[in-house]
Parts: sequence; C-alpha cells; structure tokens
Amino acid sequence: MSEDVVIHKGLENVYVKETRISYIDGVNGKVYYRGYDLEELVERSSYEEVSYLLIFGKLPTKRELYNWIADISSNYELEEGIIKILREVPKRNSPLDILKYSLLTIGLWDEKINSLEREDLYEKIVKILGKTPSILASWYRLRRGYRLVEPDPNLGYAENFIYMVRGEPSTRDAEIFDDILILHAEHGLNASAFAGMVTISTLSDLYSAVTSSINTLKGPLHGGAAGAALKMFREIGSPDRVEEYFEAKLARKERIMGFGHRVYKTYDPRAKILKNILLGLDLPPDVDRLFRIALKVEEVGMERLCKTKRICPNIDLFSGLVYLYLGLPDDFSPAIFALSRLSGWIAHILEYLEDPRLIRPRAKYVGELGLRYIPIEERG
Ligand code: SDX
Repeated sequence: MSEDVVIHKGLENVYVKETRISYIDGVNGKVYYRGYDLEELVERSSYEEVSYLLIFGKLPTKRELYNWIADISSNYELEEGIIKILREVPKRNSPLDILKYSLLTIGLWDEKINSLEREDLYEKIVKILGKTPSILASWYRLRRGYRLVEPDPNLGYAENFIYMVRGEPSTRDAEIFDDILILHAEHGLNASAFAGMVTISTLSDLYSAVTSSINTLKGPLHGGAAGAALKMFREIGSPDRVEEYFEAKLARKERIMGFGHRVYKTYDPRAKILKNILLGLDLPPDVDRLFRIALKVEEVGMERLCKTKRICPNIDLFSGLVYLYLGLPDDFSPAIFALSRLSGWIAHILEYLEDPRLIRPRAKYVGELGLRYIPIEERG
C-alpha cells in the first residue's frame, strides 16, 4: 500500500488534456483565444463573434455570424414558468444561484435534455446563451419591484442586456459591457471550466455540466473575488488607509482579493485593460472614490506582493468597479462572470466530448487497515 506517489495539491501544474481553445502566457502576461490576442479581440471584435470563435474554433463569416446571432436572440424570451418561479422565490437569492436553478429548470422543458448529439447540443447552447441575459436582467428588475422589460432581438447581445436591465438602451455602456464579456469569456482550465469538464466526462448532460461550472465559480477564490474586492475597498475606506490595511491582512496571513493567480506570475493583462477602461470613464463620485482606493491597493500590492512574491493584480481587482459603474450591485459580479464564461465553459465541454475519457483521479490512502469490528455495547 505504501505506493510511491506524488500528490499534486490543487492539481497545480497537472495537465489533463490538450486544448486549442486558449493559451495563457503566465510569464509575459498575455492571453490568446484560438490564437488571437485577447487585447485585439477586445478592441476589434464583439462578444457574439468571440463566443462563436471560442465554441466553433474560427471567426465566423458574415452568414455564420448572422445565423449565430439570430439563433441566440430567438431564445431571449423566457418561458412563463421561469418568470413565475423568479417572481415567487425569495428576493434575497443571489443572481448566480438564480441563474443555476433557472438553467436547470429550462433543462426540464427540454425533451432531449440528455442528448449529446451535435445538433441537439447546438440547440441547448443557443438556448443557454440566449436565456441567461434575460434571467439575470429579469432578476435585477424583480428584486427592485420593477416591471420586466421584454428583450429586443434587434439589439446586440450586450446592448439587449443593458436595455433589459435599465429599460432603455445605451450604446456607450453596451460597448463597455461587451468588453467585459469578451475579457471574461475564457481562461483555460480554471476551477469552474474543469468542474464542467468532469461532469461531461461521465457523459452527463450539458445543463448539468454548465451548472457544475456555475456552482464552482461561486467561491471567493474564483468568481466571487470581484465582489470581495469591492467589499475590501469599502472596508479600507480611503487611500491613506491602504498600507495599514494591507499590513494587518498580511500579518494575519489573509489574502488580498484581486491579487494572485495560479498561472499568472505577473500582472494579469485583463486587469490592465479594465484599469484603462475605468481611467477613460467619467466615474460617478461613489465609484471614483473606490477606484482611487483600488489604485492605491494596486500600488501597495505591486510593492508588497507582486515584485516580491509574484502575487500580482488579477482581473478581479478592477472588474467589480466596472459592474458598479454599469449600475450592477456587488452580488451581480459572479453572475456576469458566469454569463460571459458560458462560452469558455461550453468550448471546453465540447472539446472534451471529442475524446471523452472518464475523469477519475486517485487519492493516496494513509489511514489504518485491518481494524476489528467492536459491537456498540463495547464502545463505551
Ligand atoms: C479568477 O484560474 C483562473 O484562470 C481563474 C480566473 C479565470 O479567469 O477563470 O483567472 C479568475 O479566479 C482570478 C483569481 C481571483 N481570486 C482572488 O483574487 C482571490 C485571492 N487570490 C487567491 O486566493 C490566490 O491567489 C488564488 C486562489 C487566485 C491562487 O492561489 P494559488 O495558486 O492556489 O496559491 P496558494 O493559495 O497556494 O498561495 C501560495 C502562497 C500562499 O502563501 P504561503 O502559505 O506559501 O506563505 O501565496 C499566498 C498564499 O497565502 N497568496 C496570497 C494571495 N494569493 C496567494 N497572499 C496574499 N494575498 C493573495 N491574494
């Protein structure tokens, strides 16, 4: 039993498949989606195009993009049954929890729920991508007691979401939201993508695999970090208190939200893009105040963590501030992350289905063996 094994805690640096979906250069701080530089995709592409690129492996032709957008937008509408559930569940529920239960419920109406045939998967994919923005926008409005806004299939993906949240479109804010969606769309075998892959490796169904990913994203070490970073900025209260806060946290061996990454040992390029987006905006005073604190946290963290321990700013140092600017409350950040990352999760699920091997690691047994069973009367 004393087999000579190496335990890879957190599966650090363990490779479980080959992929063509994305490449993260953790040393030089670069990300490539299907070979294209993420920075260029943010500047020149759209989430509709990037989601097609990630899932199907190539940039769409005009005809392919038109059909892709039409198939997704034809799914914007929510079934009455879903809306009824959203109206009845307690309003304290987080948008991320509402999303996962809503997608599972949508699966209940899908007569081919278990099918992994390509054409059936396509129908599920456009349904999940089409309904997710409507679920989240509806939850935003129901929580506030507002009337629901019908989706507008003539608006783009990002613009329709902004329109359904606010009741009026905003091209400028939709462009910012589109950048957010592209930035969060894919990032290799992060915990949530891996969770979805484990689920599909048993040949389970797409709704189950995607909700495995959603469940995994929820934690503050992953998708919950943006909201946790905002909470941290509020706790700090002002830029001149950052150093004192930092030292106290580190002394308690606590983690600074928005810093560190399993792959990046340098500044997360996505954080740079988000910081530049924020620098280019005329921020309302409440957001600007937190942004100044975030910039000071970045400055102190660069000295105390990044230069010394290669624990550097990651996407979540600034992403929550962009959501706040867009009028989305803190608990929406993991849900927006999920909305965007549906494309990356689905891409990895489809890629794994090309050569599905059951994912079943081992654990090294270090317990006792050969114990004699003692009847309860003799156990004291
Ligand atoms: C995302 O994987 C992805 O790609 C994820 C993501 C994506 O797009 O899918 O990029 C999105 O999740 C970004 C990360 C968001 N999370 C946070 O900002 C939460 C704070 N960061 C961490 O908890 C941490 O950095 C992780 C979880 C992100 C990565 O941690 P690792 O690689 O597992 O490193 P570790 O926990 O083993 O820590 C190694 C050391 C420890 O110190 P020692 O015990 O060795 O003395 O580094 C320290 C840690 O205490 N450390 C930190 C720290 N992160 C690690 N110390 C202070 N602050 C931090 N943020």
